[in-house]
Amino acid sequence: MKWSICAQGFALAAAFLLSASGMRAADTFKPGDLWPDDQGKHIQAHGGGVIHVGDTYYWFGEDRAQENGRGMRCVSCYASKDLLHWTHRGQVLKTDHLEDFGRSWILERPKVFYNAKTKKYVMYMHIDGPFPGHRGGYELARVGVAISDTVDGNYQYLKSFRPLDHESRDIGQFIDDDGTAYLIFEDRPNGFHIAKLSDDYLTVEKDMCLIPEHLEGGALVHYHGLYYVVGSHLTGWGANPNVYATAKSLSGPWSEFKDIAPPEKKTYGSQSSMLIKVTGTQTTSVIYVGDIWRPRTQWDSRYLWMPLQIGDGKLSLPEPAEWSLDVQTGVATVK
Ligand code: GAL
Repeated sequence: MKWSICAQGFALAAAFLLSASGMRAADTFKPGDLWPDDQGKHIQAHGGGVIHVGDTYYWFGEDRAQENGRGMRCVSCYASKDLLHWTHRGQVLKTDHLEDFGRSWILERPKVFYNAKTKKYVMYMHIDGPFPGHRGGYELARVGVAISDTVDGNYQYLKSFRPLDHESRDIGQFIDDDGTAYLIFEDRPNGFHIAKLSDDYLTVEKDMCLIPEHLEGGALVHYHGLYYVVGSHLTGWGANPNVYATAKSLSGPWSEFKDIAPPEKKTYGSQSSMLIKVTGTQTTSVIYVGDIWRPRTQWDSRYLWMPLQIGDGKLSLPEPAEWSLDVQTGVATVK
């Protein structure tokens, strides 16, 4: 009897400790749910990008946790072998000021590229804020670059610039099958650029194409000989019907844009951020990585990750449902 009371007490204490330390990671992807990391805290990697180095995936994104402190802009890095269970590797960039951008400067959509030649990790981010003397807004329209010797930082800020002298707001990253690295950026007056990085990745070297469409949240994948580009319309934090086009070459010509889901669903409340290609022993799956923004409680913004139906020039995002992934075989199973 004594022992069973003791055991009950232990179970209660364990349950209390678990709830005090946070949530437990699930064993399936649950789009739109809270997504706990190894510490039981909701993952803070909004507007993010995922890279695959060796046998590990790294997810970088905007860390908008409430406890970051006012005025801080933070980028967090998470590591995973299966794309589902993520270990927080820390805040790899954390600062309350950059150059002379003023107090209301903006850091969004960080993406990290690994340069195998220089062995450096190079972070691109959307840097914005008002012009000096102005009161706020997205006027600077620049990219920032930071660099690190190790994947989990600390990243040293190097510079900011307008890629190829164009305005640049939302950015996306794409690494082609041959390892070439590209930055996708939204240039408000002109459209949507896909541009190649320089050999050391420290600058944007060459425009592959300018798609004359006003799209952001740019994401790309190369799948069975065709490039598929996805983007969202310009409606700020509000969801809209995201669209896609295809081309045989990055420089086009690109097909006309079509909806990735029934337009009235507004991409199930999400906005595109990236497409992850998982090539396994049995098949290749492409995962749509989207943000479900909660602009008034940004730390609670959610993620919509779903395997896409893709092939023969068609791409569609299915209705969100629980699903699982085997990164070895590449098989994604929707429950
Ligand atoms: C979205 C963009 C986000 C953020 C937001 C601000 O269109 O994708 O990254 O910049 O606007 O309103």
